[in-house]
Amino acid sequence: WMADVLGLAIAYLIGSIPTGYLAGKLLKGIDIRVHGSKSTGATNVLRTLGKWPALVVLLVDVLKGAAAVVFARWFYPWSYARWHDAQPTALDLTTWTPWVACVAGLAVLLGHGRSIWLSFTGGKSAATGLGVLLAVSWPVGLGAATAFGIGLAAFRIVSLSSMLAALTAIILICSTEQSLPYRFLVIAGGLYLIVRHRANIQRLLAGIEPRLGQSSPASK
Ligand code: G3P
Repeated sequence: WMADVLGLAIAYLIGSIPTGYLAGKLLKGIDIRVHGSKSTGATNVLRTLGKWPALVVLLVDVLKGAAAVVFARWFYPWSYARWHDAQPTALDLTTWTPWVACVAGLAVLLGHGRSIWLSFTGGKSAATGLGVLLAVSWPVGLGAATAFGIGLAAFRIVSLSSMLAALTAIILICSTEQSLPYRFLVIAGGLYLIVRHRANIQRLLAGIEPRLGQSSPASK
């Protein structure tokens, strides 16, 4: 289990890489957490720093999510062989690898949202969640990304589109052939994303959530 804890910590640390925060510090010398929605995600980077920094943050955050899941899938058999002095059986692999990936997927989302380098603040799991999804099942990831695109074209509100994408991912993972751990990961991760959008939900209900291209949210 030492290996499991180590794997979990690595996934959390991958998520913790404070991409959006670093972009603010390096490009403008600002703390992005006191600007706009206060999130360190790509949407707030777009609002605060512009298009190109946002694109880079988006890509790196997607990669973080995918990397944690891919790493877990590799790390489990590798560490098993090291610690048990034996190769895992095929049954071990099919049973446990998705569970390890599931825990790593949740850990990377948690690290992104509650970074150890940012006194446990961070982003809202949309980009990192997409990376996790693409690594778990790329068709489900593409489906969620499509829902995001449709939502954005229709409403021009990123938070709403992210939540639509999360709900779409949950529906897709439950209605296609998937293992239990991957279903659990996408349901728990999707609900976590929605909980992280609490402030956005309040602004949406109050009709003051900024649309794409508009500046800061009015509240706080
Ligand atoms: O990815 C986060 C997005 O859904 C909302 O971000 O900055 O508008 O709260 P923000």
